[in-house]
Amino acid sequence: MCGIIGYTGKKSAAKTLINGLHRLEYRGYDSSGMAVVYDGIISLSKKPGKLHVLTDELKRFPLEGNTGVGHVRWATHGVPNEINAHPHLDCKGQIAVVHNGIIENHQALKKRLIREGHKFTSDTDTEVIPHLIEKYYKGNLLEATRRATALLKGSYAICCLHSAEPSRIVGARCDSPLIIGVGEKENFLASDAPAILDHTKKVIFLSNLELAEISPEAINIIDYKGRKIYRKPAHIKWDISQAEKSGFKHFMLKEIFEQPEVIKNILKERLKGNRVHFEELAIKENLFRNIKNVVIVACGTAYHASLTGKYMMEELIRIPVWVDTSSEFRYRKPIVNKNTLTILISQSGETADTLHALREAKKEGAKTLAICNVLGSSIAREADGVIYTHAGPEIAVASTKAYTAQLTTLYLLTFYMGYLRRAISGTENARLLNELKKAARLSKLMLEGFKNSDNKIAKYARDFRKYYLKKHNKSTFLYLARNINYPNALEGALKLKEISYIAAEGYPAGEMKHGPIALIDENPWVVCVATKAKVYEKMLTNIQEVKARGGIIIAIVTKGDDRVVSQNINYIIEIPEIDDFFSPIVVVIPLQLLAYYVAREFGYDIDQPRNLAKSVTVE
Ligand code: F6R
Repeated sequence: MCGIIGYTGKKSAAKTLINGLHRLEYRGYDSSGMAVVYDGIISLSKKPGKLHVLTDELKRFPLEGNTGVGHVRWATHGVPNEINAHPHLDCKGQIAVVHNGIIENHQALKKRLIREGHKFTSDTDTEVIPHLIEKYYKGNLLEATRRATALLKGSYAICCLHSAEPSRIVGARCDSPLIIGVGEKENFLASDAPAILDHTKKVIFLSNLELAEISPEAINIIDYKGRKIYRKPAHIKWDISQAEKSGFKHFMLKEIFEQPEVIKNILKERLKGNRVHFEELAIKENLFRNIKNVVIVACGTAYHASLTGKYMMEELIRIPVWVDTSSEFRYRKPIVNKNTLTILISQSGETADTLHALREAKKEGAKTLAICNVLGSSIAREADGVIYTHAGPEIAVASTKAYTAQLTTLYLLTFYMGYLRRAISGTENARLLNELKKAARLSKLMLEGFKNSDNKIAKYARDFRKYYLKKHNKSTFLYLARNINYPNALEGALKLKEISYIAAEGYPAGEMKHGPIALIDENPWVVCVATKAKVYEKMLTNIQEVKARGGIIIAIVTKGDDRVVSQNINYIIEIPEIDDFFSPIVVVIPLQLLAYYVAREFGYDIDQPRNLAKSVTVE
């Protein structure tokens, strides 16, 4: 949802900004731009299209200067053309602003500013900001920005420059992320850490309604009332190589293959002998002993992890767990109270709906626990407690490793709570941990079999494309599973939809006869998770029902399962034998790969699918 960056130092601002914008491109990719100050003048370069268009433009027409701001856009107000691309300027072209978020009262502000004589050029909500700053500017950009932002309603993270203060950048935030990168004689502002990791791992997280002024030598933070704030930098553990493709064709494929390592690292981080430790948790053990129910709230892929969490906790702890999507939870009157543990799951920690759901739960008196990947993110900081998933930076828009990291963390949290509540004995705890470790090893073993880019799943994807074209683009996908793998059916369908643009639905297989079976003829491809599990026999029946109606089946089965194989199934994917309860971590991998290879067959932009962006900071 738009990425912003600001740089001030001794290096070329344009090069530093482009480098940072490349790392932020997953946040928006319909247009990009930057403004750089040189010799008391602001120069602008903006282009519709992906970032390489701006990069090419800057090769032809380089921008000089050591201070600048940059932007990658995911359009909300105004089509993605050059005029609407950021940065936006004031009337005199002395102030440049980049913005992530939505200014909800922009129409009223714009009307007033036009009456006062300001001239607007774009259709964006953002443009009111430079004009407001212009209105209040009396030689101090920080103060003018403070007065301007006090009038804004909605969400924003902004970086601003003024040509009269050529080595200074001012940032401000409300409900959209903004961090300060602390360098040596250079400083940064950015939406997210990967943008600055090439230069520094020292960051200061700005809180809501705070502003920062950076120059190469100094950082000055104030709150919205102008009071000074002192905050120590934190250290980001992520390595820049984690945000690179490292020989893989796409980030998504790299992140799929990283999953065994991610699970292994989480276990290394969290286990002290046979005890689960969440160092940063900040919630007392007694709370976990005393709560009466759990509510898990999340969006998209994180929501699917939450659904799996329900199966885990209800089975092992025997505590009621409700799961809700954030956008529904926040607008209902959710029944949570001081006896409820509300868990918010979010890779980015910035998803607007999940953040608001968190605030809603807090308002009702529930204890809140965030499970996030991004250090210092808003959800992580606003919740009463946090558990980081330690998946490293996830760059592909389609989430993969963050999902398995969330699942692993949920397993550990289940064991932790179960042990505290005496629902799990010490021996059982040890057995469960062993099974989880085994799942990490098995996922690695399985991925070995898919290293070759012309593997079995890639071939199935090729067959699908041929079939799809033969059927005049009519074929669709249905994903069926039961019990603890049912959320994986939803996740498999989501992955396919978002990167292949092919209609796909996930369903609990038992629900087929209540409607969806009407969809089955020879057109849909039906992915059935039929691994060895307590619901195995039921799944075999469902497979027969699909087969009898002409559906084309891809069955995910346990290695060595002759029964499914003997049933003349069109396509088979084997997974290693694994305890049913832990199978979601392994089963999801072929589903991710299937989506990846189908998108590859169609030649789509896998890491940057249309209309999407990572970190959904608008509602
Ligand atoms: C799907 C995907 C999204 C996110 C969702 C929540 O591949 O990435 O569905 O899972 O937008 O994002 P976070 O986890 O950052 O709150």
